[in-house]
Amino acid sequence: MLDSVTTFVRYVLDSIASGVTKLVPAKCGLIVLPPIKDPIILLSAQQLAEKIKSGEIKCVDVVKAYKQRIEECDPLVNAVVETRYKEALEEAQTIDETIAKELATGEKNLSNLPLLGVPFAAKDCLQVKGMQLTAGFVPRKGCIQSEDAALISNLRKLGSIPLVMTNVPELAVWYDSANMLYGRTNNPYDLTRIPGGSSGGVAACVSYGGSPFGTGSDIAGSIRFPSHFCGLFGHLITQKAVNIDGHWPPFSTEQSECLSIGPICRYATDLTLLVKSFLGDQAEKIPKLDHPVDLSKLKIFYMEDNGGSSSTPVHPEIKEGIRKLMKCLSDDYHANVTKINIPHMDQAFDIFLNTMKDKPHIPHTQKIANFDGHKNPWLELVKKMVGASDHTLPVIIVSILETCLGDPKSESGRELIRRGEIIQEKLFSMLGDDGIFIYPAFPEPAINHYTSILKFQNIGYSSLFSLMGNPITTCPIGLSKNEHLPFGVQVMASPFNDHLTIAVARAIEEKLGGWKPPSRVELKSN
Ligand SMILES: *[C@@H]1O[C@H](CO)[C@@H](O)[C@H](O)[C@H]1NC(C)=O
Ligand SMILES: *[C@@H]1O[C@H](CO)[C@@H](O)[C@H](O)[C@H]1NC(C)=O
Repeated sequence: MLDSVTTFVRYVLDSIASGVTKLVPAKCGLIVLPPIKDPIILLSAQQLAEKIKSGEIKCVDVVKAYKQRIEECDPLVNAVVETRYKEALEEAQTIDETIAKELATGEKNLSNLPLLGVPFAAKDCLQVKGMQLTAGFVPRKGCIQSEDAALISNLRKLGSIPLVMTNVPELAVWYDSANMLYGRTNNPYDLTRIPGGSSGGVAACVSYGGSPFGTGSDIAGSIRFPSHFCGLFGHLITQKAVNIDGHWPPFSTEQSECLSIGPICRYATDLTLLVKSFLGDQAEKIPKLDHPVDLSKLKIFYMEDNGGSSSTPVHPEIKEGIRKLMKCLSDDYHANVTKINIPHMDQAFDIFLNTMKDKPHIPHTQKIANFDGHKNPWLELVKKMVGASDHTLPVIIVSILETCLGDPKSESGRELIRRGEIIQEKLFSMLGDDGIFIYPAFPEPAINHYTSILKFQNIGYSSLFSLMGNPITTCPIGLSKNEHLPFGVQVMASPFNDHLTIAVARAIEEKLGGWKPPSRVELKSN
């Protein structure tokens, strides 16, 4: 009985969403975005660093190429919220001069830096010296930072250059990227759709070719949704390995243990280098990162969906994509591939909600009050309806739902938390140190801007695993035939086996093509 009610409600919500989507004419990236013309844009981070170090290309030209790409695409996509082109060009100039000297003298200093001269897009949740950190929250407007976050400082030490700050949902709490300060970011593959969130500005910018990589953070899917919706590789480093100092907004200590950080990039071949760079001086925390991986020795498990009816059914093309991937891992790489069924995965959203609520946490009513007392979210809802609220609808809804959904102290709440723990035990004992689990990140490719609230339960596909702390690489596995929208899967391993998910990501890139640009590519010949 309950099941048929759930199925019916889901059907109604999805029908409304698909009606909305049909009403809004698509704005396909292939048609509306300018083509990529500069071959520099197509180089990986690793190639860029090598070519800058060998003097084959000038760092200044790299920064200029990315600046130009952002200037031609971003008015349509709105991923970038602040730029530091002038500083970046000066830093690039210094690099070029020093490299010229080092090449002449044979001395090695900058030439040893692994990310020398590679620009990156920072998420507007991480402190970058000299830039604002707003997290899309109106009261933070003008909050110029005097320090770099630990991660940003690591990346700079390795030679990388912060180029732009990118958009997030207000306070980074939704899986879209829109706020009252900077507006909304569009998906480069279809401007009428969401890029995902909360690292949505990063992903949109990287995917149209505005940056070789970006810094993501994820506490419920915030690297995985945008990587999936924007056709990119996004890696969640095993939790607690990367220093998260300088991330805003703050979480309670207990909840911040579920926060992971990682790179979002176009090429799987960049992942090892980037993960190592993100770890900085904490590299010993993931000691196997450089271990070679023999895919034929891996046990690969997969599920095509969560088996329930509370979230949107997994899109047939995603299921087909997963089957194609499994066939390739088994035929071409001789991996041992097994389809499995882990029970209760369809309750992921409620498990996540109750488990997070059970931890000491900073309530959203306090966050929207800028940590000064509490705001009444119902009052904000009324103000929103008359256009008098500085908050986005999702933040207001989340603040309301947080007070009324889920009771971790109730019997059903405790049972849900226990189910989450059982899933984790099953998963990790099955995976051991040579197993991979492949699972959708979200049941559909990018959805229409106006439909994300109808589909919030779908986030369970990713958020459940934030409770487990294991490494996950989201990998693009195809493009939908009619709409030209990318979709991906989560590739996960047990904690500290980041090297396994990265090895599978590289195989996926090799066999399925990886990132496919949202625009046309028309390289200028020299
Ligand atoms: C090497 O580079 C670092 C960082 O740019 C700089 O502080 C240092 O002075 C350089 N050392 C030499 C010997 O040039
Ligand atoms: C493949 O993996 C399954 C599950 O771990 C195992 O039962 C089976 O024996 C393995 N097959 C081979 C050929 O190794």
